[in-house]
Amino acid sequence: MSEETIALVTGANKGIGYEIAAGLGALGWSVGVGVRDEGRREGSVEKLRAAGVDAFGVPLDVTDDASVAAAAELIEERAGRLDVLVNNAGITGGVPQTPTTVDPATMRAAVETNVIGVIRVTNAMLPLLRRSASPRIVNMSSTVGSLTRQTTPGAETGPISAAYAPSKTFLNAVTVQYAKELRDTNILINAGCPGFCATDLNGFRGVRTPEQGAAIAIRLATLPDDGPTGQFFDDAGPVPW
Ligand SMILES: NC(=O)c1ccc[n+]([C@@H]2O[C@H](COP(=O)([O-])OP(=O)(O)OC[C@H]3O[C@@H](n4cnc5c(N)ncnc54)[C@H](OP(=O)(O)O)[C@@H]3O)[C@@H](O)[C@H]2O)c1
Repeated sequence: MSEETIALVTGANKGIGYEIAAGLGALGWSVGVGVRDEGRREGSVEKLRAAGVDAFGVPLDVTDDASVAAAAELIEERAGRLDVLVNNAGITGGVPQTPTTVDPATMRAAVETNVIGVIRVTNAMLPLLRRSASPRIVNMSSTVGSLTRQTTPGAETGPISAAYAPSKTFLNAVTVQYAKELRDTNILINAGCPGFCATDLNGFRGVRTPEQGAAIAIRLATLPDDGPTGQFFDDAGPVPW
């Protein structure tokens, strides 16, 4: 088995995911670039390799059982294990998202990718992660999923959101349950918020760069063995649930 640290980043073709892949690659890690579209995947791998990253393409649609199973097989064949999984792929689900008018299809789409997609990928990768000396799982969440923030007068809460924000609340809750189940293992699993970054997800209205957004994922991917698990962080520290 390779001595090199092996990571997989989902949704690594653009935005924050691409920068997470670049940042982990800069540590000298081998980075699986999980992308559903072949052209976008190859373009990202090429760009990362040109920047000196040991990148390899992983065909991956987080909503598709067969695709996720094939991704696990690819990593098994290539590396025999996985050290770090960054569940970054995410969608808003579409608009409008006012609770009183939201289309159930919008709700399903957000939950399918942002929550069930994370569970599907995590569970497929767990046998490979269990072979690592220091496995880490990072779930890219958002402070808009913080119920405390949403209900604190005067706090920045983002727009009214029936699907996207609650999908991140759901993801946070699932992260806590994974940490409970995995507490007696060496696997650390945490949720991270990148801050409001200019990406396709928000029509590039964010105020931070995707590279700045990637920093929290890189920090949680490189936690020491006695680091936290089942927690939620942004660059400023712990985020309230
Ligand atoms: N931007 C922000 O301000 C912000 C704030 C808080 C949290 N976040 C979170 O950070 C993460 C990255 O967001 P971003 O802003 O970088 O968004 P983005 O630029 O829209 O990128 C999203 C990525 O997810 C991928 N993706 C979506 N559905 C997928 C699927 N079914 N299978 C595989 N990949 C899929 C996209 O691939 P395609 O190109 O194929 O669509 C793309 O690579 C998300 O989880 C988001 O919720 C972002």
